[in-house]
Amino acid sequence: MKIFLQTYGCQMANRDSEVIIGFLIKEGYKIVDDDKKADVVIFNTCSVRQHAEDRVFSAIGACHAKIIGVAGCMANNYREAIFKKAPSVDFVIGTRDINKIPKIIKEIEKHKKNKQDKKISETDAKFREDEIYHTGYHLTKDHAFVVISEGCENYCSYCIVPYVRGKFRSRSPEEIIKEIKDDIGAGISRITLLGQNVNQYKSNIDFKDLLYMVNKVEGLKQFDFMTSHPKDAIYALFKTMAECDKLIKHLHLPVQSGSNRILKSMNRGYTKEHYLGLVKKYRDIVKGGVISTDIIVGFPGETEEDFKETYDLVKKVKFNKAYIFKYSPRPHTKALNFVDDVPKQEKERRHGLILDLQREISKKK
Ligand code: SAH
Ligand code: SF4
Ligand code: F3S
Repeated sequence: MKIFLQTYGCQMANRDSEVIIGFLIKEGYKIVDDDKKADVVIFNTCSVRQHAEDRVFSAIGACHAKIIGVAGCMANNYREAIFKKAPSVDFVIGTRDINKIPKIIKEIEKHKKNKQDKKISETDAKFREDEIYHTGYHLTKDHAFVVISEGCENYCSYCIVPYVRGKFRSRSPEEIIKEIKDDIGAGISRITLLGQNVNQYKSNIDFKDLLYMVNKVEGLKQFDFMTSHPKDAIYALFKTMAECDKLIKHLHLPVQSGSNRILKSMNRGYTKEHYLGLVKKYRDIVKGGVISTDIIVGFPGETEEDFKETYDLVKKVKFNKAYIFKYSPRPHTKALNFVDDVPKQEKERRHGLILDLQREISKKK
């Protein structure tokens, strides 16, 4: 059986795809890089914006593989309802159930041979077993993503992640260091520590201590981490960043908006002033440190003045890089109950304005 896996979404989703491929290879499946040559096509999906989901549904529509599976965040978002929206899908597998994929494919295969139509949905697991991170497969040769925490309980009012990724949990430092050492043994020299909010990492040690520990791993040349949340990014973290010689001096610190009114409505837990204070401290402490951000334009209730505040913040901070998104209402979220009152065209205008501004800044930098 030949399998093709297509990934949509963030680094976490990309790491999950490696885990899935690792399982499949272990079970003797062959991974191919062309969906037309595959017996099984798996879509590892993202639900963060409507656009991400639309792309997946159209790709499924164009797919003619014998067996089609949907894994990842959309699986948790829609569960069995995917079978109605996309009748060609045979199985749906949630973000915490990915270890079951080989078994499910076998089951479907068996039914297909007997000309029976069988649909399987597994989306209910609450946690992942740590073994899943030790299958040892990597898409790139010298770099690896290492998950340090899963899930999120911050409930930013626009965000679907807490509903599809589950409760926040941290992996133990021992497991993390073991995985890094195994990666190094396999020829990898650079790693990225991953979590929806890495600053919240909490085991018997905290995030700063984990950074010091990782910095000491022999054979590791460079590492970085993402994503940081401004409400939990503390000055002590910047000191740690400055002190860890192998750490890339890059902070991805999503601000989302420059308007305190909107930040409150987004449930972000900080103000514009707090954010600007963080940036100043970061630049003072982490010499030559690079900073990037995420911004959402057109959040419900965002007036021209609110937008102007975001625009001015971008102008003031001069990020090295900024990812700008148009607000997209998501199921389950609190903001779904707010009126999505910024017209599409206006969202596009605001998006374009910040994009142009950031382009100008990036060029100068
Ligand atoms: N855990 C990270 C980011 C998760 S999603 C964090 O907390 O920063 C990545 C980015 O997608 C977010 O930073 C946000 O800018 C954007 N995003 C999330 N939900 C969105 C929505 N409903 N509409 C538009 N953009 C969204
Ligand atoms: Fe979403 Fe907020 Fe969690 Fe980031 S911190 S994943 S934006 S709920
Ligand atoms: Fe990542 Fe998208 Fe899921 S951003 S966590 S793949 S909803």
